[in-house]
Amino acid sequence: MEEKVKIAPSILAADFLSLGKVLSLICGEVELLHLDIMDGHFVPNLSFGPKLASDIKKRFTSEFLLEVHLMVEHPSYWAEIFARNGGDIIVFHWEAERHPLRLIRKIRDLGKKAGIAFNPATLWENAELILSEVDYVLIMSVDPGFSGQSFIPWIVSKVRRLREFRDDRGLCFEIVVDGGVNPKNAALLKEAGATVLVGGASVFCADDPVKAIKALRGDRINVE
Ligand code: DX5
Ligand code: ZN
Repeated sequence: MEEKVKIAPSILAADFLSLGKVLSLICGEVELLHLDIMDGHFVPNLSFGPKLASDIKKRFTSEFLLEVHLMVEHPSYWAEIFARNGGDIIVFHWEAERHPLRLIRKIRDLGKKAGIAFNPATLWENAELILSEVDYVLIMSVDPGFSGQSFIPWIVSKVRRLREFRDDRGLCFEIVVDGGVNPKNAALLKEAGATVLVGGASVFCADDPVKAIKALRGDRINVE
């Protein structure tokens, strides 16, 4: 049977003034919601903090899991804060943490799923030894910091190598691709073995976000 790819909309691209409304609209369509946390140091941008994560979790308790993508220095500090404020999956960057295995175990001890993210130019192969301990591996397909950037095409082969590595070893972490994902490259990424696609601008800048999610997933859409 064909594997169904999951879509994780990234609210960074949403109109924050109507966030509740758009989340109510899409909540039946997605299993994950992607929250981009930026500190102005690891990336040259600021986004939002734990209060928003906790407010979303209170309102949408069981509709979707909150995937917290930490683009911050000192991820260990923030991982704990977001784990206590609604985060279900805590993803930190390999480039920002000197003791990644310790942090993975800490996140799991907090009862959360742990993920590790790699910038486009960082080889996930450097982390091979610890990939058996993670639940999510996130491959950035743009340099992190902003929504609406163009997808880097050579990321597809990076994803394919990761999927082969995962399957050869019988591991089962999710393979997340984040940045510039649109319906065209979504099909290539799915074929390469991605299991979760993050969609920012392609979902929240679309006239119909529900249709946009279906298009990313590759659902057949009835033409009215
Ligand atoms: C970029 C963020 C992404 C981004 C995705 O630093 O990690 O999650 O919001 O947005 P799009 O899909 O617009 O690139
Ligand atoms: Zn992200």
